[in-house]
Amino acid sequence: MGERDVPRHVAVIMDGNGRWAKKRLLPRGAGHRAGMNRMIGLAEHVFDRGIRYLTLFALSTENLSRPREELEGLYALFREYFPRNARTLREKGICLRVIGDRSLLPGDVVSLIEAGEALTAQGERGMLLLAIGYGGRQDILHAVNEAVRRGKEVTLEGFSAMLSTGGVPDPDLVIRTGRELRISNFLLWQSAYSELYFTDVLFPDFSDREMDKAIEAYACRERRFGKL
Ligand code: FPP
Repeated sequence: MGERDVPRHVAVIMDGNGRWAKKRLLPRGAGHRAGMNRMIGLAEHVFDRGIRYLTLFALSTENLSRPREELEGLYALFREYFPRNARTLREKGICLRVIGDRSLLPGDVVSLIEAGEALTAQGERGMLLLAIGYGGRQDILHAVNEAVRRGKEVTLEGFSAMLSTGGVPDPDLVIRTGRELRISNFLLWQSAYSELYFTDVLFPDFSDREMDKAIEAYACRERRFGKL
């Protein structure tokens, strides 16, 4: 596989933690913990393979209306895992950027995010974008309102730069685990020409080998960007 066949930016919709737990007669929280552990292993593998940008859809705007108990469990996991993993990212030269509406998250979670971003800001080997409280439509709407405020017409490039992913190339490959065949308000604008890869594998079971399979499938696609 040549260097050109490896995507520069991979985005993953991490679905299926709840079903993974259910299959094992475990509470949903156990599925999220397994998902969190997989997320960390996967990020390491992806950057080791030379992929520069990895975006992980951890929590959508819509997920924030899940029962309070489940959300509290997710925030508790975040508090437990995030600080030490931010230190690991720093050691590995990976810059962290969290995208999404922070006003929807608990204050202490926002403080952890800010500290993690500051700690890893110098990372030049790659970038991990974590989408939390993220919605593609909200991202676009926010940029539209910003454009209106500026009061002049914007170009395609100018508009892209105003999104929360500003400065990051569009994803080459968008993967969704867990069997559903939809985009669920993920990177709507940014994925206009992304190659899509859907797998039945539930996220906690989405191994490094499964990721390699997705990358291999990507390498076989012919990308034309609408041209002949
Ligand atoms: C999808 O599985 C997974 C999630 C909604 C959450 C995954 C995120 C983490 C483990 C990261 C931790 C937390 C934060 C705050 C970033 P699902 O529950 O939709 O699975 P199902 O479709 O099988 O029910």
